[in-house]
Amino acid sequence: MRFIILAGGSGTRLWPLSREQYPKQFLKLGENSLFQGTVLRCLDVSDISEIFVVTNESQKFFVSGQIQELGYDIPKENVLIEPEGRNTLPAICFGMKEIDSRFGRSTVGIFSSDHVLDKSAMKTIADVKALSSSHLVTFGIAPTFPHIGYGYIKPAESLDIGHRVSEFREKPDIESAKKYIEEGCLWNSGMFLFDTGVFFKELKMHSPDIFNAFEGSDEISSIYNAVTSISVDYGIMEKSNNVAVVKLNYNWSDLGNFSAIYDELEKDSKGNVVYACDHVSLNSRNNFVHSKTGKAVSLIDVNAMVVVDTPDALLVCPKGSSQKVKDIVSELKDKD
Ligand code: GDD
Ligand code: MG
Repeated sequence: MRFIILAGGSGTRLWPLSREQYPKQFLKLGENSLFQGTVLRCLDVSDISEIFVVTNESQKFFVSGQIQELGYDIPKENVLIEPEGRNTLPAICFGMKEIDSRFGRSTVGIFSSDHVLDKSAMKTIADVKALSSSHLVTFGIAPTFPHIGYGYIKPAESLDIGHRVSEFREKPDIESAKKYIEEGCLWNSGMFLFDTGVFFKELKMHSPDIFNAFEGSDEISSIYNAVTSISVDYGIMEKSNNVAVVKLNYNWSDLGNFSAIYDELEKDSKGNVVYACDHVSLNSRNNFVHSKTGKAVSLIDVNAMVVVDTPDALLVCPKGSSQKVKDIVSELKDKD
């Protein structure tokens, strides 16, 4: 089975650990980076030659380097370099066009590079191939709270495998997110299974400008000059009447912020996650502490905080405010 791994985002919510030059998917917080975890999951059901990574010039060395660390060599032609990020729809088109022109009509799993997922989910994903010959397939997760950073999927009648989708809504406001959960919607996992033929037909219908740009040229820089920035969720999934969902009953997480990362990592006896520093704390619990500077970090009577120290930036915030870190990054950019 073939895969496209999207590895071009900058992960601003993990600032200052992740920067544009070293985004979160390549950060090693545990044994492997999230990107390496994604590659290993794909390798469970495919060969390295079937894995395509869409990335950019400044991240391409992380891509091949981190795959080499796993003991594999990704063919150079499978690492697709975007001239500039245009969000996920053009990135997916780039990968789908490359696969279609090299191998003909194919079923392709589309993965984000910044998710945690149980390995056992891969069999379910590979097993629903037949559904993708007629539908755009997305994988749904049972929601646990009204997260406004996710897409919501309303399942309708059952198909042979999975369910037809009657509504797909990307990043709703909090009131709508609550309503979608009450109505039995699933979170969009951001993982898809697309047949190249079905995908380009839907693209032509719902985002004709992007379709025409990819159809009209083989030169990636001129294609990217002609396309706007849009995610696959807004550009196709919200508009298509031909979406099916398969629910995944496995542990899944988009490690979008420090709070989500904290939840996934091993804690000490006081519930603290502490990385790469000398650390002594008194009466402090449930904190995420990361220091890349070698400085000792001490906390006294501090609970549920994020403390991230790097040579040129220090972040301190309550864990519950982690989602707002991206706002700091845009403020800092505006100051530049
Ligand atoms: N190559 C490339 N180029 N990759 C990109 C680009 C780009 O311009 N922009 C984003 N990506 C990569 C990111 O690195 C990430 O791995 C993946 O594409 C998804 O992008 P995100 O920016 O993380 O999307 P999201 O989390 O806001 O929303 C998506 O995922 C949610 C679940 O995690 C949507 O599909 C939501 O509907 C979904 O709920
Ligand atoms: Mg994401």
